[in-house]
Parts: sequence; structure tokens; C-alpha cells
Amino acid sequence: MQHPTITIIRSEHRALSAVLRSLELMLDDSKRRGALPDFGLVRAMLFYVDEYPERLHHKEESELLFPRLRLRSQGTHEVLDRLDRQHREGHVALLELEHALLAFELLGPARRAPFEQALQHYVGFYLTHIQIEEAEVLPLAEASLTEHDWAELDTVFSLNHDPLTGHPPPDEFSPLFDRIFAAMPAPFGRGAPGVDHQGVTS
Ligand SMILES: [Fe+2]
Ligand SMILES: [Fe+2]
Repeated sequence: MQHPTITIIRSEHRALSAVLRSLELMLDDSKRRGALPDFGLVRAMLFYVDEYPERLHHKEESELLFPRLRLRSQGTHEVLDRLDRQHREGHVALLELEHALLAFELLGPARRAPFEQALQHYVGFYLTHIQIEEAEVLPLAEASLTEHDWAELDTVFSLNHDPLTGHPPPDEFSPLFDRIFAAMPAPFGRGAPGVDHQGVTS
């Protein structure tokens, strides 16, 4: 049986991957139509990324999961160091992405290309990050952590309740997630079924 922490981490990865791919598709679609993107929706999705993946998921990996792995296993420190560094860099990259978005929104199409480049970089960066965690870190965790480790991790990760992993959003988040759900395909939302999400980790 898979430990709840592993199930939660994998489903949070799928949610983050889906939001990142939706952002790219929305930008591509607006460009094809010669229109501006729905800036409010783009901001809502980036706020979600900051509020849940950045402030919960990555934080708990760096503060809880990785330290236990460092204790229990040999020879993994290099990859954990790299992933910890990426967690820190991801926070800065998100701030830069939000700035590029604001520039696009306030200054117009001349600032579309820098935002698109920043988004492409951010999406590639995190999809690779997730791939490394799933291919290297999670199997190692399953092989080396103790039942006591899992009990502690399961308790904390079970509190995450990311609304894109099937949990109802808190009341104050409802309008925000209504917008996000409306733009995303099932199983993450109620959006257009034609949106292609191939490549989302399953
Ligand atoms: Fe991570
Ligand atoms: Fe992760």
C-alpha cells in the first residue's frame, strides 16, 4: 500500500503540472486569436501556485521530507541539495514571473514576449523538478523511511487540502477557485474538454 504522503505529493504534482500547462495553453490561445489573455485568470492561477504548491508543498518537502531522507539514506544529499536550491529559486522565479505579468498587463503587447519567456522558463523548471522528485526522491523515501517517519509525515501532509486535489476550498477562496475550475479540464475543473493536457504526470 502506498503511504498517504506519497499519494498526496503525487496528486499535488499533478495539480501543479495541470495549472502550469493550462497557463501555457491560455497564453498560446490568446496569442493565436490576436487577443490579450484573461489577466485576472492568469493572476488567479499564479496566486494558487504561490499559496499552495510554493507555501505548502515545497515547504513541507524541504522542511520535513528531505531532512528525514538525509538522515536515513546515504548518497542522496546531492539531489536533495539541488531540489532544496530549486525550491528557493522557484520562489524568486515566481516573483519575477508575476512582475513580467504585471508589465504585460500595464504596458501592453510590447511586454508579451518577456512574460511568455518567463512563463516557459518557469513551467520547464518545475516540470523537470517534479520529474526528479518522482523518479529519484519518492522511490528512495519508500525504500528508506521508517514507519515512525511516515506516521509524522502523513499527519502533516494530510492537512494540506489543496483544492485542486479534490478538497473543497476554504470559503474565502471559493470565488478564486470558481474561476480556476471553470478554466481547467476535468478532473481538475469544469473547463473545455478539448484542452490538451497530455504529458500531465499520472
Ligand atoms: Fe519540490
Ligand atoms: Fe514536490
